[in-house]
Amino acid sequence: MHEWVLKVPRAKAKTTIWFCQSPLFATHLPELIATHQGPCAIITDATLKKLYAKQLQGLDAKVFSIPSGETAKTRETKAYLEDLLLSHHLGRDTLLIGLGGGVICDIVGFVAATYCRGVSLVLIPTTLLAMVDAAIGGKTGVNTPYGKNTIGSFYFPDQVLIDPSFLQTLPKQELRNGLVEVIKYSLIASKPLFVQLQKHINGFASLDVAWIKHLIQKSIRIKGKDIREDPFEQKGRRRILNYGHTIGHALEKLEEYRMPHGQAVAIGMMAAAFMSCEMGFLRFEQLEEIQALFQQYDIPLKLKKTHPIDAFLTGFALDKKAVKGSVRFVLLKEIGAAHPFEGEYCTEVPFPILEKALAWMNR
Ligand SMILES: NC(=O)c1ccc[n+]([C@@H]2O[C@H](COP(=O)([O-])OP(=O)(O)OC[C@H]3O[C@@H](n4cnc5c(N)ncnc54)[C@H](O)[C@@H]3O)[C@@H](O)[C@H]2O)c1
Repeated sequence: MHEWVLKVPRAKAKTTIWFCQSPLFATHLPELIATHQGPCAIITDATLKKLYAKQLQGLDAKVFSIPSGETAKTRETKAYLEDLLLSHHLGRDTLLIGLGGGVICDIVGFVAATYCRGVSLVLIPTTLLAMVDAAIGGKTGVNTPYGKNTIGSFYFPDQVLIDPSFLQTLPKQELRNGLVEVIKYSLIASKPLFVQLQKHINGFASLDVAWIKHLIQKSIRIKGKDIREDPFEQKGRRRILNYGHTIGHALEKLEEYRMPHGQAVAIGMMAAAFMSCEMGFLRFEQLEEIQALFQQYDIPLKLKKTHPIDAFLTGFALDKKAVKGSVRFVLLKEIGAAHPFEGEYCTEVPFPILEKALAWMNR
């Protein structure tokens, strides 16, 4: 046998993130479209297409939409979009612009990754969750009957345009979903952010622009640091961003995606904090402090119906941190710091503790 190695320099990914100071539809977006050397296609969802119909009308771009919500994040929708783009003869010089929440960011990102073997991508996140999380970091994908985000790719957008004024039309529940991710960043990486969140409940309730902008920038800085260290989730550090999501994703699937994503992740984070306590890392007073913060922001932590432990275990099987079928969890050392576990940033949890945590969650 003769070995021959083809060396390919590691793909360089660079995303420029802009905070819009002036109205996005009047200045930034028309400029972006005008400067792109090729056709532009905006892909959004039905809710946003209706809400922003007037603003979208004047743009020199084709506008396509898919149904709103998580149920549209499928392989079928991806194929639908690809056929639509092909039927409009849009080629490799096309700029795809995803305008929407996390669902749009994920699916348009995935379409961009494979359409004509990859086209330019700009994301315009319109939910708080997408601004602080889904639009940042290059993870794209769709759900399958086997679980969330089970098919996808890493594909970094060239640009992300953030305009917090989109949050004015966002329903309160959706805002809370995004806040849960901000709370997550505070738990895994920033005690000062946790303390600020405890103090400024009103800033969030009143959508104080400066405060919301601060939360978005702080979140992106925390996520950005972990992405720079581990862009393709290969080493471990990026795993901390998954805090609370192992149980959260299993719960979402068990609830047939009817439970708000933020609530499922909040419950998952509480269960992981409980396990951190039981494993002797997190102090009990801090577990209580975390619970109190969720309650201050009216994030429900109670399940309406209980789920058998076996159902959770099946749900964990496809978790990306699992090794040889064994599920691993990101745990807290203290508020503001995920436990490093010698650079793995996740660990197996003895079954009796996991069982106790799931029973505690089902209480
Ligand atoms: N790729 C990643 O790194 C990453 C990270 C976190 C979450 N996600 C994914 O993000 C998805 C959840 O995102 P989401 O919570 O933004 O959900 P979403 O995209 O479904 O948006 C929630 C709802 O809000 C509506 N909406 C969006 N913007 C609006 C606005 N400005 N005004 C009024 N209504 C608006 C949408 O039409 C939808 O009905 C999940 O699929 C999750 O897996 C991905």
